[in-house]
Amino acid sequence: FYSEDSGDDYLFKIVLLGDSGVGKSNLLARFARNEFYSNSKSTIGVEFQTQKMEINGKEVKAQVWDTAGQERFRAVTSAYYRGAVGALVVYDISRRQTFDSVGRWLHELHTHCDMNVVTILVGNKKDLKDAREVSTADGKSLAESETLFFTETSALDSSNVNAAFQTIVKEIY
Ligand code: GTP
Ligand code: MG
Repeated sequence: FYSEDSGDDYLFKIVLLGDSGVGKSNLLARFARNEFYSNSKSTIGVEFQTQKMEINGKEVKAQVWDTAGQERFRAVTSAYYRGAVGALVVYDISRRQTFDSVGRWLHELHTHCDMNVVTILVGNKKDLKDAREVSTADGKSLAESETLFFTETSALDSSNVNAAFQTIVKEIY
């Protein structure tokens, strides 16, 4: 008996990129486990989680890889990117510097992956309204110029987190 989901046909590797502290690990925790850690430590090495999703009535699996934003804690880069078909490039809307790094993360992504890896630019921590340093318009305009999808999320209050992953997986599928 042959079952369609016994293979890896619908397993999509997605990588998280962005400066330390932007909320990559919490976006993954929210997406995969509906959890949030207000005092999370920097990631060391690599972690990944597989999450089932339903796209057009079909079950697919997103395997989401997370590593440290800080160089000294990062995993072997080529292995991290190998086989990735989607990417979330994350910045923190309350820290301009993390937005200014986006170009470098895109450069790294394109050094290791095919140009057509489906990529979404994610402005995280949108709950921090009073501390905003990057406007939605600036985020959108960078995404347009780099031909990326765009969203603003909050891992804290959950807004747009699932939708960000859905956008990528739908486009790959
Ligand atoms: P590295 O592993 O060092 O690369 O960092 P990271 O990008 O994984 O960041 P992490 O998820 O560890 O989050 C850093 C800090 O930001 C933690 O204190 C989180 O609680 C906080 N944080 C993450 N997402 C949000 C968010 O959406 N809103 C707010 N207010 N805080 C957040
Ligand atoms: Mg982390």
